[in-house]
Amino acid sequence: MSFKLSHCFTVSLFSLTLFLSPITYGQLDYYFYDRTCPRLPMIVKFGVWAALKNDTRMAASLLRLHFHDCFVNGCDGSVLLDDMKDFKGEKNALPNRNSVRGFEVIDTIKEEVGRACPATVSCVDILTLVAREAVVQSGGFPWPVLLGRRDGLMASEKAANEQLPSPLEPLENITAKFASNGLDLKDVVVLSGAHTIGFAQCFTFKRRLFDFKGSGNPDPTLDSSLLSSLRSTCPNTDSSDSKLSPLDSATSSTFDNAYYKNLVTNSGLLESDQALMGDPRSAGLVSSYSKYPFLFSKDFGESMAKLGNIGVLTGQVGQIRKKCGSVN
Ligand code: HEM
Ligand SMILES: *[C@@H]1O[C@H](CO)[C@@H](O)[C@H](O)[C@H]1NC(C)=O
Ligand SMILES: *[C@@H]1O[C@H](CO)[C@@H](O)[C@H](O)[C@H]1NC(C)=O
Repeated sequence: MSFKLSHCFTVSLFSLTLFLSPITYGQLDYYFYDRTCPRLPMIVKFGVWAALKNDTRMAASLLRLHFHDCFVNGCDGSVLLDDMKDFKGEKNALPNRNSVRGFEVIDTIKEEVGRACPATVSCVDILTLVAREAVVQSGGFPWPVLLGRRDGLMASEKAANEQLPSPLEPLENITAKFASNGLDLKDVVVLSGAHTIGFAQCFTFKRRLFDFKGSGNPDPTLDSSLLSSLRSTCPNTDSSDSKLSPLDSATSSTFDNAYYKNLVTNSGLLESDQALMGDPRSAGLVSSYSKYPFLFSKDFGESMAKLGNIGVLTGQVGQIRKKCGSVN
């Protein structure tokens, strides 16, 4: 009898702990807003659709915004914060200034979500769902997204400058930055496939066209017909620095595996893109993704899920921001 009783007690204590754990410890789960904000998925879907209808490039910009959020002190919506009195935000960090875009889209969706379910859904969860939706509406495959992230209380311009990868640094350095976020070389190769959509400004790759690493010549690994077309978009003058070129010259608004096909034919845009083909540790994977679009889609979803779980705040930590641009 006493055994049975204590067994029963243990079982109920166990289930009580399970029941309480999302509150006490905090965990992400797939159904986090199912009861508290059932319309969330539809609002996100419509918000992204409306944004892309006006500007197809916005899909790329929103995907990149999520990446830049997660790489700086984890996925905590820090990239969305404006400068506050006790810190400078990340919007003006070098990799972001005059480069990241899409803040208004997130703000609009946040307002819509706030009307349907006040003070319930974090900005960082909205951004994470928006990034997936942007990929799907550009022709990519969906992946399961855990929810329950909370918004951070600060941002760091300095951390953004130090932690975001530059297209001019070697693959080793980029890999190191991914590794410090728990991502491996395969994730670098797979997630770089995000460059199948969107655009880059001339200054981010211009040295490849005219004076590669001080040689006075163009990058010898750049396809010659792409070189001449890039030179006409980006003539060798400072005034061309902010002109745009598609990251994937074949299909710049479709989420497909053409990015990898480009790399195989020396037609990657950024040095950091083409470098994936120049290193034997990553070239094999590039070649596989160029041949097997479904493999790329599957692996991309898996790596995006990892990206979205970097350094998340859960439970009672952080907050649900009222406005994505400022802490409450
Ligand atoms: C591997 C290291 C990476 C480097 C060095 C890099 C660098 C860059 C650069 C220089 C641009 C152009 C920015 C501009 O001209 O203003 C860009 C654009 C973009 N990046 Fe990356 N990136 C990397 C990884 C990623 C990852 C992991 C993602 C997402 C998962 C991503 C998504 C994008 C997208 C979608 C664009 C186009 C944005 C637009 O058109 O608004 N990038 N990236
Ligand atoms: C539509 O896109 C353009 C950029 O292409 C932008 O300037 C404008 O604000 C957008 N309008 C809306 C309503 O989002
Ligand atoms: C790559 O990383 C090394 C070691 O952290 C650093 O000394 C070097 O300046 C970096 N290279 C570039 C081009 O950023």
